[in-house]
Amino acid sequence: MEAKAFPAKRFFVEMLTRDIDLEAAILDLLDNCVDGCLRAGPIQPAVEGKPYAGYFAKITISQDNFKIEDNCGGIEKKLAEDYAFRFGRIDSERDKDIATVGVYGIGMKRAIFKIGTNSKILSNHPNGGFSVTIDKNWMESDIDWTLPMEELPAQIPYGTLIEINTLHPGISNLFGNISESYAENFSTKLQQSYSYIIEKGFSVYVNDKLIESKHLKTLLDEDAFTENEGIAPYVYKTTYDDVEIKLSFGLYEKLVDDDDNLTSGTRTKNDAGWTVICNDRVILDNDKSIRTGWGESGVPQYHSQFIALGGYVSFSAKDAGKLPVTTTKRNIDLESPIYSSTKEEMKRALKTFTDFTNWWKSQTKERGQIQKKSSTLDIRTAAEKIPENKWKAVRTGLQGHRFKPTLPKPPQKRTHARIQFEKPIEEIHAVRDFLLDDSNAIPYDVGVAAFDWALEQAKKSK
Ligand SMILES: Nc1ncnc2c1ncn2[C@@H]1O[C@H](COP(=O)(O)OP(=O)(O)OP(=O)(O)O)[C@@H](O)[C@H]1O
Ligand SMILES: [Mg+2]
Repeated sequence: MEAKAFPAKRFFVEMLTRDIDLEAAILDLLDNCVDGCLRAGPIQPAVEGKPYAGYFAKITISQDNFKIEDNCGGIEKKLAEDYAFRFGRIDSERDKDIATVGVYGIGMKRAIFKIGTNSKILSNHPNGGFSVTIDKNWMESDIDWTLPMEELPAQIPYGTLIEINTLHPGISNLFGNISESYAENFSTKLQQSYSYIIEKGFSVYVNDKLIESKHLKTLLDEDAFTENEGIAPYVYKTTYDDVEIKLSFGLYEKLVDDDDNLTSGTRTKNDAGWTVICNDRVILDNDKSIRTGWGESGVPQYHSQFIALGGYVSFSAKDAGKLPVTTTKRNIDLESPIYSSTKEEMKRALKTFTDFTNWWKSQTKERGQIQKKSSTLDIRTAAEKIPENKWKAVRTGLQGHRFKPTLPKPPQKRTHARIQFEKPIEEIHAVRDFLLDDSNAIPYDVGVAAFDWALEQAKKSK
């Protein structure tokens, strides 16, 4: 006798797709493309700093169709037969030496089921091509969990095409909405999430429109390294438990004039805060909440005074399971010890700059001057500018190295001054006897008493 324990397909698929939003599901498909590039390696001749140069993904979104097509190497036939279409990874060792983000063996299937019911996956890989079809009939049968696969001659360029032809009604409405274009909204999200990958050479198109990257900037006054003080970002780097962590936070733009309001100029609140990146994917975008240390242990909560402050923290690991992300990979795992330790460093960086904006709250000539000396650069290159001898070793927590800038302070207004003069001793004694009636009083006491007396007269006469 035996009791059947396999899941009902419909229930299983519904559970699988319930907790992920549509954008995150589509980003999962894109993540697979980038993982594909990493496995295939840079297209030769390789471009320095641009490991993804020449690779692309093209997404097409319309009322009755969704398509994603890439040239990222394709899926190997054998892998497709044994694993790629299974729910959940069985070979945890695969890709262990490549900084991919695939961990769970769910992303592709979850995205397909989230979007529609009839789909086709086509792959061209150096070892051969194939297509796999998922349709309504498959969904309705609980017994058969295998998918029909057709072998095809591989065509160049090697890559993958996923096409979903019958969309769920809700998705179809969303994709077809003319007044609020889903493709446009998604493109904005994509720009936020994928800028780092785009910067590294990857091209992403949404409905034939190339997505541009968004730079994170910071202000740097090179004198900060040669003189005692100057505007420069707070920078930290370490490698802990095989996770490489880099952090940089500072002023990304000059402090605004007091009469400059948030709507003038190009400045928007969206550029301030922390951007958190895991294996090149942006997990939090310009965050200003407690998740990134605002309003915690002495750091003020975010408000408009801090509109010019921004930075990033990045985590990279070959084993994506070590990254501090949640299972949907689009949110930070606040319980991760590596993240909470990094957050301590983030709070130090925040405090350094929130203090700075407190010192320079009002618009003065000096404030203009200190800012004038600094120039804007890509925040990720700031660490390279810091001279070797300016880094300090960090001995606690995640260890590593830190550069804490000495930010300029406003000049202190002098409130006191010294009075010093000489008089004949005889005259000093005369004043002493007149004011103090103490033959032991020294000239200093006499001077102070004389000043106090004169001050009193002055006040009286007002
Ligand atoms: N566009 C693609 N290019 C190359 N290989 C791909 C592509 N899409 C999927 N694959 C292959 O199919 C496998 C399954 O993808 P899926 O997204 O379901 O899981 P995963 O990426 O391994 O893990 P995760 O659930 O964390 O994303 C991948 O590991 C990869 O080998
Ligand atoms: Mg994946």
